Amino acid sequence: VGRVKIVLMGISWLGRQTSEFADLDWENLGFGLVQTDYMYTTKCGPDGNFDKGGMVPFGPIEMNPASGVLNYGQGLFEGLKAYRKTDGSILLFRPMENAMRMQTGAERMCMPAPPVEQFVDAVKQTVLANKRWVPPTGKGSLYIRPLLVGSGAVLGLAPAPEYTFLIFASPVGNYFKEGLAPINLIVEDKFHRATPGGTGGVKTIGNYASVLMAQKIAKEKGYSDVLYLDAVEKKYLEEVSSCNIFVVKGNVISTPAIKGTILPGITRKSIIDVALSKGFQLTIALCDEYAFLLKIHKSTVEERLVSVDELLDADEVFCTGTAVVVSPVGSITYQGKRIEYAGKQGVGAVSRQLYTSLTSLQMGQVEDPMGWTVQL
Ligand code: COI
Repeated sequence: VGRVKIVLMGISWLGRQTSEFADLDWENLGFGLVQTDYMYTTKCGPDGNFDKGGMVPFGPIEMNPASGVLNYGQGLFEGLKAYRKTDGSILLFRPMENAMRMQTGAERMCMPAPPVEQFVDAVKQTVLANKRWVPPTGKGSLYIRPLLVGSGAVLGLAPAPEYTFLIFASPVGNYFKEGLAPINLIVEDKFHRATPGGTGGVKTIGNYASVLMAQKIAKEKGYSDVLYLDAVEKKYLEEVSSCNIFVVKGNVISTPAIKGTILPGITRKSIIDVALSKGFQLTIALCDEYAFLLKIHKSTVEERLVSVDELLDADEVFCTGTAVVVSPVGSITYQGKRIEYAGKQGVGAVSRQLYTSLTSLQMGQVEDPMGWTVQL
């Protein structure tokens, strides 16, 4: 009887692995959690070495009430996506970038991080174990959420003595309820997301809790999200609660330079590289004094201080992020004035071209000269 039971368990495990798609309404995916079958988990103690780890059924985890993450917010997360190609195979987009960003963030948060190879291998295991939840081509993607948290108990303020690295995944569609339609932002004039010397440049969980209030107020007024200004001069663009921002004027694509308060988005970086591959020249200026240097090229993609006033006469504005991909901005409200960005259905030509180039690469519809995708 024991042997029959083992064989049957094997069939049900295999059944889960081989039934092509989970029973889900693939036409109506949003960005809500859909619980999948398995998650990856591993721990490390004070020596900083993570165990090999492995897949366990998705579900609640045990957490010490005195854990570093619950009490002092010692935690980081990542986000990346897997896409299904038309031949049924699966592509990951730049998982090593997430692994490296988690290492940088972990250093800032006094946490050990899993080695890059272990991170990427764990992501692959998580996607393969949940393969039936990767949406059919063109219906969305599997959003993968790696988490690194101080799970060991502390009472006095100190780094936790134990860490848990786990990865879960959920099929997703469009992030904003507007779908692919342009979103409406409001420039935040009271709350700030990050301050110089703080943790705005790393993907720590607290950065996201702290924007909920501004986001809630904005949503109540009908806006999709909030655009933050720098906390010192209240003059330069930083980012949106959930994504980076780009402004297009003529042949110039500009985005706020990374200077510690802005999240170094992987989609942000990829969009800059896609623009460069299309003949734009990169210029980086960290202060206004050097801004004149930016004028020497005709078509440029610029990482620099972007003044809020530039929104007034921009041709296009768009947001980038793993969750939001490339989201066109239809309007921005600043000091009570609504600035509208026109274009075909509100989507400008530059945003459209960059969106198409990036997503066709992510979905494996075009060659990948950058070597960004990882085939499973
Ligand atoms: C992502 O784009 O992956 C993020 O982490 C943003 C989050 C608010 C969904």
